[in-house]
Amino acid sequence: MPTVSVIYFSGSGHTTKLAEAVQKGAASVAGVKTNLIAINGDDIIKGRSSNDEVFAQLDASDAIIFGSPTYMGGPAAQFKAFADATGAKWYTSAWRDKLSAGFTVSSGPSGDKLSTLHYFFTLAMQLGMIWIGLPELPMNDKGINRLSSYSGVMAQAGQEATDVAPNAQDKLTGELLGKRVAEYAVRLKK
Ligand SMILES: Cc1cc2nc3c(=O)[nH]c(=O)nc-3n(C[C@H](O)[C@H](O)[C@H](O)COP(=O)(O)O)c2cc1C
Repeated sequence: MPTVSVIYFSGSGHTTKLAEAVQKGAASVAGVKTNLIAINGDDIIKGRSSNDEVFAQLDASDAIIFGSPTYMGGPAAQFKAFADATGAKWYTSAWRDKLSAGFTVSSGPSGDKLSTLHYFFTLAMQLGMIWIGLPELPMNDKGINRLSSYSGVMAQAGQEATDVAPNAQDKLTGELLGKRVAEYAVRLKK
């Protein structure tokens, strides 16, 4: 059974909502197992994430989708501490040919979210993964990909409560990315 894992950090809950939407989309594909994994800042030892259980889940995944809020124009420090810990996977090419994708949330319509998505892409390329982008055109009446991002999902949320932001349109965009990754995971497994 193909497994799709969503690994993300969220400081105040907005990215969690988008991560749940991405997982929902992946789980909508028949026969796909999903994991929703929150990066816990308490796992960071001397600046690097350390959680064997999390890495075992990721090792066993066919696809890994990265998520983080954009903080100061890039991924949150907690995500970077996780990314640095994947250096052990680089040494052994352990994640080579796994599928990958990404999503981010920030308060500005742009807010430099693209820097975060491009960091995820660079991380995936260093690890030999295969990047899945977002082909959804923004000209639609459902608000899908309203922020016009093709590298991955961009969503908007600032000080609003997590039950209203990210909004339904951004969460639907997240679902579509999760579904797309899961569909490719099924193809890859065949
Ligand atoms: C330390 C910090 C840095 C931030 N930097 C940015 C930024 O560069 N661009 C932006 O648009 N929003 C920025 N924000 C706003 C957050 O991206 C936004 O509130 C987001 O919804 C937080 O997601 P979370 O609830 O998952 O932590 C920043 C917030 C914090 C706390």
